[in-house]
Amino acid sequence: MVMINVEEIRKDFPILNREINNNRLIYFDNAATSQKPKQVIDGIKYFYENINANPIRSIHTLAAESTQAYNDAREKVARFINAEPEEIIFTRNATESINLVSFALPLKQGDTVLTTYMEHHSNLLPWLRLKDRGVKVDLVNVDENDELDMSRYDELTKDVRLVTVTHVSNVTGTINDVDKIVRRAHENGSLALIDAAQSIPHMKFDVKKTGADFVAFSGHKMLGPFGIGVLYARKDAEKSLSPFLTGGEMIKDVKLSRIVYENAPALFEAGTQNIEGAYGLGLAVDYLSKIGMENIETYEKDLTQYLYNKAKGLKNVEVYSGKSRNFMGIFSFNVKGLHSHDTAYLLDKKGIAVRSGFHCAQPLIEDKLKQPGAARASLYLYNTREEVDKFIDELGSIAEKYGR
Ligand code: ALA
Repeated sequence: MVMINVEEIRKDFPILNREINNNRLIYFDNAATSQKPKQVIDGIKYFYENINANPIRSIHTLAAESTQAYNDAREKVARFINAEPEEIIFTRNATESINLVSFALPLKQGDTVLTTYMEHHSNLLPWLRLKDRGVKVDLVNVDENDELDMSRYDELTKDVRLVTVTHVSNVTGTINDVDKIVRRAHENGSLALIDAAQSIPHMKFDVKKTGADFVAFSGHKMLGPFGIGVLYARKDAEKSLSPFLTGGEMIKDVKLSRIVYENAPALFEAGTQNIEGAYGLGLAVDYLSKIGMENIETYEKDLTQYLYNKAKGLKNVEVYSGKSRNFMGIFSFNVKGLHSHDTAYLLDKKGIAVRSGFHCAQPLIEDKLKQPGAARASLYLYNTREEVDKFIDELGSIAEKYGR
């Protein structure tokens, strides 16, 4: 197995030296946001100290350098997922990327969007909102193994305008077979969108292989800064989108009687953009690429398996994730008799950061898992077996003391 040098990697993340409640921080909330390496943190400082100017608009040297930095970042992100630079639209995050499609795709009364019960709210609410416009929203069910019930998939995709699905569930860790989902959506004449917010940070993702029309992801979950996200829109599919926000730099010519719009990606990037965010995301992509996404995936899958093996011995703990044949990175659980927020609070007392609550996936947790919330540990490339050992020890003590 190819291993990564986790001790070397950890040296790049200053925050991992922090003490929380007199314990060395164990950061297991990576599905919410990742920590940032000093290459990204220092790079953003460098940008502001050396390059900062409004790109594209002005022609002075700084503006030209800022434009170059923005273009370079777009090229890096494109290469990272095997896309063309023109197919990369910068947004604020995956949520905005999906909302962009929901606003810009001319969906009308009688059209159907097919999504799933496994979605984060960001891939559910933009579509449910369209019901006001007479758009029908259907959901693929989730079975007892945390997998999508594909038995009715072909039937459900008949006459569907858009199929939209998460690649990796932020609650169960299930990795969906998006290549197959997209292929069958296309065979049935639908467009396909992938919410890759929980996958692109953790594994190699090739847009050409997957074939999706749209792919959404966030910079902050993949070592990049907050406030920068990506919508990949396949060249041909872009044409099905109308302008989303209007304003500066998304036009070629403006007469009061006639507006000529720019082509993508500028068409969807009205106004001054988050340039330092894109720059920082480019540096994050450099960092991940240097380690290698295959190595990161192998390491994380191994660490996940290690965690699940250790968790087998826990009493009074109910686990809701990891049942799928293909899953990674997520351990969702409750100490029986304790609310997930109390469990998270008690773990935090030992320096262990986990998320708790509905994880912005309330229908999945309430309707399918039948829980009033869950605690969740989520792993990344800088986490270690020693951290897992400490987490399992502390969780075991909490479950022994408070569980029933
Ligand atoms: N989507 C993020 C999570 O699952 C915020 O925590």
